[in-house]
Amino acid sequence: MEIDPTNLESETLLDMVKPTGKNILEVGCGDGRASFYMAKDASNYLAIDSDKDAILRAHKKFSTNQLPNLKFETLDATNTGLAENSFDIVFMLCAFHEIETNKQEQALLEAHRVLKRGGKLIIADPLEPPSQMQLLCNIVCEDFLHFDHSVSVKHSKSILAKAVSDRKFDELEHKICSINNMFENFGELCSSIESVFPEIDWDVTQRDQIKKEFRKSLGVKNDDQKMILSDELDITLLTKC
Ligand SMILES: C[S@@+](CC[C@H](N)C(=O)[O-])C[C@H]1O[C@@H](n2cnc3c(N)ncnc32)[C@H](O)[C@@H]1O
Repeated sequence: MEIDPTNLESETLLDMVKPTGKNILEVGCGDGRASFYMAKDASNYLAIDSDKDAILRAHKKFSTNQLPNLKFETLDATNTGLAENSFDIVFMLCAFHEIETNKQEQALLEAHRVLKRGGKLIIADPLEPPSQMQLLCNIVCEDFLHFDHSVSVKHSKSILAKAVSDRKFDELEHKICSINNMFENFGELCSSIESVFPEIDWDVTQRDQIKKEFRKSLGVKNDDQKMILSDELDITLLTKC
């Protein structure tokens, strides 16, 4: 399995975030997928998530690979308790749209509060309409987590646009990063999507149901065939007004 085989996603994000020497807050870090490469050259990097199990997974993942400037904490995006005007950068990867819809505006206000004047906010979220990978994730969200992922993606984009029209932030740059993920066979693809949802305790029936829906959605006829699926990230770089 090769997710982002050419490291295009990490390179695009590093190029937009420019973490070198900066004091950075990552919101909704999950298991810290991006935190380690982002923190390498940062001055200080605090990665937070409201899910304490995600933070435990992040601690475990990095216990053998410590960076002294990287810290993980269980904190909520809407009320971090962190000092105001203290960060050069607030970064969210696939996280802003996952914040409850009625809390997204507050999460942006909190990012605004903790950012220094002229500080940068970088939000990387799924593109609307959904990529092939995102379509499969949406199926899982609908069936097992009982929420409509497309609605929350659409809502988060309107909240971001409102923050710009309210002059909380100015938009500086907007980029779409398109990557192709390669899978040796259909089983590998299913395992990869399952790993995006560590909170689900997959049993055999759930696995069979999902495989059936994925097969239908992608029109898979032969489980042994190699597959290439697109994924797109919609990245917005803003500055605090
Ligand atoms: C799809 S995951 C992305 C994780 C990671 N950034 C990545 O790209 O792999 C979204 C994360 O946002 C977190 N999240 C949702 N609402 C939050 C909130 N109010 N405060 C902090 N984190 C939140 C979830 O717990 C979850 O770990």
